[in-house]
Amino acid sequence: MQLPATHRQFESEITADRRDLTRPSDRALGRVIACSGARATIAVSASGAALGGNDGYAIGRLLSINLGASRVVGLVYEMRTLDQAWDEAGANRVAVEVELLGEVVDGENGTARFDSGITSYPPIGALAHRIRSRDLEYIHDLGQRRGVVLGSLTQDASVAARVDIDRLLSRHFAVLGTTGVGKSSAVALILRKAVEVKPNLRILILDPHNEYAHAFPDNSVRIDASTLDLPFWLFRFEEFADIVFRGRPPLEDEAEILREVIAVARNRYRVVSSQDMARDLGSSVLKRPIDPGARRPGETSGSAELAAPYRMADLFTAIDEQIGLHELRYPRATLRALRVRLETLYGDPRYGFLFAHANSMETIAPVISQVFRVPHRGRPVTVFQLGGLPSEVVNAVASSLARLSFDLAMASRGSYEILLLCEEAHRYVPQDQGLGFTPTRQAIARIAKEGRKYGAYLGIVTQRPGELDPTILSQCSTVFAMRLGNERDQQIIRAAIADASASTIAFLSSIGNREAIAFGEAVATTMRMRFSEQRPEELPAMAGRALAQTEQRELLVEELVTRMRGL
Ligand SMILES: Nc1ncnc2c1ncn2[C@@H]1O[C@H](COP(=O)(O)OP(=O)(O)OP(=O)(O)O)[C@@H](O)[C@H]1O
Ligand SMILES: [Mg+2]
Repeated sequence: MQLPATHRQFESEITADRRDLTRPSDRALGRVIACSGARATIAVSASGAALGGNDGYAIGRLLSINLGASRVVGLVYEMRTLDQAWDEAGANRVAVEVELLGEVVDGENGTARFDSGITSYPPIGALAHRIRSRDLEYIHDLGQRRGVVLGSLTQDASVAARVDIDRLLSRHFAVLGTTGVGKSSAVALILRKAVEVKPNLRILILDPHNEYAHAFPDNSVRIDASTLDLPFWLFRFEEFADIVFRGRPPLEDEAEILREVIAVARNRYRVVSSQDMARDLGSSVLKRPIDPGARRPGETSGSAELAAPYRMADLFTAIDEQIGLHELRYPRATLRALRVRLETLYGDPRYGFLFAHANSMETIAPVISQVFRVPHRGRPVTVFQLGGLPSEVVNAVASSLARLSFDLAMASRGSYEILLLCEEAHRYVPQDQGLGFTPTRQAIARIAKEGRKYGAYLGIVTQRPGELDPTILSQCSTVFAMRLGNERDQQIIRAAIADASASTIAFLSSIGNREAIAFGEAVATTMRMRFSEQRPEELPAMAGRALAQTEQRELLVEELVTRMRGL
């Protein structure tokens, strides 16, 4: 058959391209034999060896359909022989089904650009072939946007996988994938790049497996049960009650008493410290700087809600006063039980971080400085190791940190941007509204919904997207979907991402470790990529592994017991 001149030209171009890369034979050339609005079928002739990756025809790959001034880009989602058989000796006709994603249009000066959407559909007979690296670059080009390289395209390792880091953070992101595919390692890479290019960024990692400190030895601070100071008075009432009642909802009387005695204790503290202040004013020392936690617009103004300090001693006295009243307002047994409960908490060394330095702090300034790195002193990342905390306080701690992240970003009026990175996010924002801890859910939802206005961002990591609150996931404008075997999880991705085509999602069950399909605002076009390989010292270390490496010495029995208590 005599080909039209333009087609002859394409064939010679393509042959040249193939020669460059020492690709085999003409087999790589295909012809469009059917085309609908969104899809096309390409017939390729394969003789001898199997048709595969080197030819550009493989499931999940992009290929190019040549239309002269433009190339239509197709994603291969199905391949089969037209005769339902394979002939070793003869030519086999293979039908390659592609989804049409858009077109690369040549511009001036030898440049080109990619548009999703198609203006000219491929005619029947149009020539298809392996896509060129240059075209892949155009497809994923971020234009003027600030891109950081996180790896390379799966299809062509010579093309960098770039994401728009500002968009990634400011519109929240999620990393989803089954266990062991490389989520935490990918997150470590993303965070490392983020702090490199954004000096105002602070990152707070809620790290349930105590693994991230290993990945950031030089630019993070690690906060664990032994270095933590979160004074009890900075908790909101619900958070403190969750600690006091160990996760069970307080009875009506208990909640009322606790609320009341906290209010009394706060008032006493305030009176005493304003007397102090009056004294100090003589020497013009104002001891109480403005406390961002104490001024929360839109929050109930009940004094028990404000992060103003109070003393445990005053709390006990306030309960004793109730117990001593002639006309009891609450059952004496309930009052006593609450007192005992608070005393036990106060005396328990595992809760030392709540009380030890609480009364030497007059505002939350030291906490902000330690946890949120103001100033950062070269360490903008805080790894909050939840793994060693008593499990009863994890909820309250996570809630208060999420809440403070938002408040601090808001109060800083753009001076700081804060990323809250939640590993195992399904624990904090579960899909089942009956599970999880309401204040944590509210604090995280607040960042998800309003955070971007104030510079408070959310990063979500989970191996169980199906158990994650879909409203939070839908606020994540960029999603790195790693391998997800389960059909339900794949459907969740499909629902969460507007431009996720059915064929792209279908690959999620079979992609390799370190691979991801990146969707959403931070990428130019949906991108199948592999995160860069990192050196062992750059990876997060599972707590167990880290211990095994660093602690060859014999453990003291006291240390072991302390650790066991924390479990
Ligand atoms: N980018 C990478 N570079 C080098 N090694 C990697 C990379 N990603 C993953 N790995 C390897 O795979 C292992 C598992 O990765 P990782 O802990 O990140 O998975 P995960 O998805 O977070 O798992 P889990 O669900 O258990 O938290 C790592 O310990 C590391 O050996
Ligand atoms: Mg992990």
